[in-house]
Amino acid sequence: MFHLGWFLGDSTGIHKWWGEWSSTNGMDWMKPDIYVDLATSLERGGFDLMFIEDTAMIEDTLGGTMEITLKYGEMVPKNDPMPYIPLLAQATRHLGLVGTVSTIQYPPYLAARQAVTLDHLTEGRSGINVVTSVSHRVAQNFGYDQHLAHAERYAMADEWMQVVSALWESWDPDAVVLDYDEPRYADHTKVHPINFEGRYFKCRGPLNTIPGPQRRPVVAQAGNSTPGRELAAKHADVILALCKNPDEMKALRQDFDQRLVKHGRKPQDLKILFMTIPVVAETDEDAQEIARRLAAKRHDKDEIEMRLWGMSYASGGTIDYLKYDLDGPVPQEIGTGETTTAKAWLENSARKTLRELVTGPFNYGMDFVGSFDTVAEQMGEAMEVAGGDGFLVYQPMTRHHIIGITDGLCPALRKRGLIRSSYEYPTFRENLLAF
Ligand SMILES: Cc1cc2nc3c(=O)[nH]c(=O)nc-3n(C[C@H](O)[C@H](O)[C@H](O)COP(=O)(O)O)c2cc1C
Repeated sequence: MFHLGWFLGDSTGIHKWWGEWSSTNGMDWMKPDIYVDLATSLERGGFDLMFIEDTAMIEDTLGGTMEITLKYGEMVPKNDPMPYIPLLAQATRHLGLVGTVSTIQYPPYLAARQAVTLDHLTEGRSGINVVTSVSHRVAQNFGYDQHLAHAERYAMADEWMQVVSALWESWDPDAVVLDYDEPRYADHTKVHPINFEGRYFKCRGPLNTIPGPQRRPVVAQAGNSTPGRELAAKHADVILALCKNPDEMKALRQDFDQRLVKHGRKPQDLKILFMTIPVVAETDEDAQEIARRLAAKRHDKDEIEMRLWGMSYASGGTIDYLKYDLDGPVPQEIGTGETTTAKAWLENSARKTLRELVTGPFNYGMDFVGSFDTVAEQMGEAMEVAGGDGFLVYQPMTRHHIIGITDGLCPALRKRGLIRSSYEYPTFRENLLAF
């Protein structure tokens, strides 16, 4: 069996708001409804988690202006995802809910306390996706002139995780006494200041709230570069990975097994979820036809501009792809942002034109195209080779696609015994680590 997660890549922001199946997304993206529909569908489908992206800025790298960003609604408007988590917990009973927290946006005390509060409110189903933020524009909203260099971001994130982890441990498991006769709420000898002093953070502690049902909320991480892998191997329960085929997936799993052991953990302590954007339909022909139409659309002006926008964003705001001739060679710099994503997109592009690259396949994880049964079969085969832990399903955020996955693909996976048919445990981490 393997796990399923949903990557809400547009976060609690605007989703596909024009074109087929976009429904009332343009007007209603901020309302609870689409998120509640998504969460309840995911639970019906047997998903372990919903993973909510976040980025706090309005980009202006492409063309040196916010014009294209605001024209299409690229990563903006976007609400803060955290307040949606208790709301989604109310609508569901088992689904893990992971909100993104940037190490340059949140002081560790604030993040540790918020995550524990959410763990209480969700009764043990909360998690944080720890990111370092990739764009100068985010950094500039939080007091920096420029974002830090890639390696330093990760050094800071490691220290941030040390502080947050120490705060989560600042109350001993038996600190709360709740003795009504004496009366005594907690034993003060079992609540400890952490007195952390590092290069980036200083925090006295202890946390001013008691541990939640999971004690340590689930920690996710998404950077796949070497420092990203190290951060995940030290601190995370789940990593989101970009691999194109089962052999790459297998190699990544083996790499993590070694890193985990090096950091005194067990390979089974960390799950890898592999990104995929499956195209599914009732028959193989229908799915192939959808894939053909999507491929043809990639030549539209708006699709090209959005793709260039995405590449500029992934470069960390360092490359304005509008400066390059669409029919000239693809610039080969990786940039300083999402380096793994940028590498995946630029792979084998040295002999292509920029137009060929941006009108070509999206290259964001594993591609599956076919009927529900065909894709279920292929996913099972890929996991068999990879020995991996599951898939993270992404895009497009329309109810049509959601239902295709949760009510079309998931039953086909369940029929083959590939995904869960119930949730065994009360908390998110227990379910995530159950197999
Ligand atoms: C699937 C995926 C999801 C991500 N989600 C976010 C996010 O929500 N917010 C953010 O600032 N960065 C996000 N990132 C960026 C990563 O957390 C990481 O900072 C970035 O990829 C740079 O790391 P790398 O060079 O190790 O790949 C995401 C990356 C990937 C691949």
